[in-house]
This record gives sequence, C-alpha cells and structure tokens, in this order.
Amino acid sequence: MKIFIDSAKLTEIEEAYRCGVCDGVTTNPSLIKAAASEGGSDLEEYIKKILTTARGTPVSLEVTEYTFEGMVAQGRKLYKKFNPVAENVYIKIPVNPSFEGEGGREFEGISAIRVLAGDGIPINCTLIFTPEQALMAAKAGARIVSPFAGRIDDLIRKRAEVKFEKADYFPTEGLEGFDDDGVVSGIDLVAQIVEIFDSHGIEAEVLAASLRGSRQVRDAALAGADIATIPMYVMRDMLVHPKTREGMRGFLEDTIPEYAALGE
Ligand code: E4P
Repeated sequence: MKIFIDSAKLTEIEEAYRCGVCDGVTTNPSLIKAAASEGGSDLEEYIKKILTTARGTPVSLEVTEYTFEGMVAQGRKLYKKFNPVAENVYIKIPVNPSFEGEGGREFEGISAIRVLAGDGIPINCTLIFTPEQALMAAKAGARIVSPFAGRIDDLIRKRAEVKFEKADYFPTEGLEGFDDDGVVSGIDLVAQIVEIFDSHGIEAEVLAASLRGSRQVRDAALAGADIATIPMYVMRDMLVHPKTREGMRGFLEDTIPEYAALGE
C-alpha cells in the first residue's frame, strides 16, 4: 500500500520525504489554508516547492469552483500552471459539488472529471462516501477515488450519540445497529469499494482518506486500499510502541564501550 502525506505544510512534506516512506501528497482547500501562513504571501511559489519536494510522486491539488464550467476551467488552469514544475499534479474534483437542498447539479462533478480526464489530466475524485459514488467516479475517468473513512465514522458515531474525539479509533465492524446506508464504518466503505473494483476489473486506485489514527491505517491496508493518505501525526504514531522505547533504553544501558567502538 502506498502512503501519501495529507498536508500542504512544506515542512511536514519535506520531513515525510526525507524519511523515505512517502509516495505522494494530498491537499485540500482546508489544508492549504492551514499551510498558508507558513508559506508567506507567495502561495504559488510555495506550492511549486511542494511539487519539487514530491518530484516523481503524485500531488493532488483540489479545485474550489463548484460548477461544471468552473471546475473544468480551474482544473485546466491549475494543471497548466503547476504540472510543468515536476509533472506530478493530480487535479482533485468533488464527486458531486452540489449543495444540500439544491437539485439538478448532481452530474457536474463526474462530467468535469470526464472532460479533464479526456484532456489527459489525472484526476483524484474526492468527497466519496458511498461505493456507488466511487463507481461513478471511476467510470467517468478518475485515476484515484478518495473515500473519506474518518468522516463516515464521525457520522455514524453522531447518529449513535457516542461522544468521541477526532482521533479516537473506530472499529471496522462499526457499532451494532448503526450504519450509513449499509456502510458500517469508514474502513467498511473502503473495503466495499476495493471489492467492487476488484470484481469488475476497475483500474482506478482506492485512496483511503480522512484517516485519523495508526490502527486505521492498518485497517485500510487490510481492506486492500491502494493508498492511505495520512496526516503527519498519524505517520509518527505508526512508529510508536512502548516496548520499542523500553527495548531501546535497555540496549542503550547494556552497551559496552568495546562494542560501541566497533562502529567508529
Ligand atoms: C484528503 O484527500 C482529504 O481531503 C482529507 O484526508 C480529509 O481529512 P479530514 O476528514 O480529516 O479533514
């Protein structure tokens, strides 16, 4: 499974690439907003540095427009401006950009995907909460589909009136008696999409997004996700175990000078 960093902060992205485990970057408008102060006034240069740091691996840049015409125009502009930097830009398009209570614009996301994919622009289709949305996105030509695992868990816990913190673990099997239209957890959503894509030979990659803990990354890997995108704190947590720390201390205490000298 590939691991992407879910961040627009250059310092975090550099660190993730330096340690050698990072296969890509996902950003969204909220992550760009969080990184903007770090980048100073020149956001364009800042994004170019992200693209250079991630050279050879995909970086998703999301549109902020929400009409078919707007998303196509902005997707083309973003791609034209930024892809020449390191040839690694994916344009992120919401599967359905229409707002609550609004009707008649449900096809605009997948129509924009079809047009942009037809231009040869790689698309990451975002804000996916059902296997059907993933299927439609892949059929329209998305190369990556992004189910939001954590936000499904949030929704189910809210319905169940369970108190939780954002990073609290939510089990793959969910909570008895609660689901979202047959999806019992965020990881179940990922697993259902993987199963559908596998059984129908659909080539789009399944990117488990909105992951909030290291055990959820394990669950995403077990569910067969092609990619997990994770924030820096989760990447760090994936390496932590108290017995590793305890073992480290013991080895340090037992080191004899003659042995340490061998490495000099
Ligand atoms: C990445 O592609 C998504 O935008 C991101 O993982 C969303 O995460 P959140 O639900 O924690 O905001």
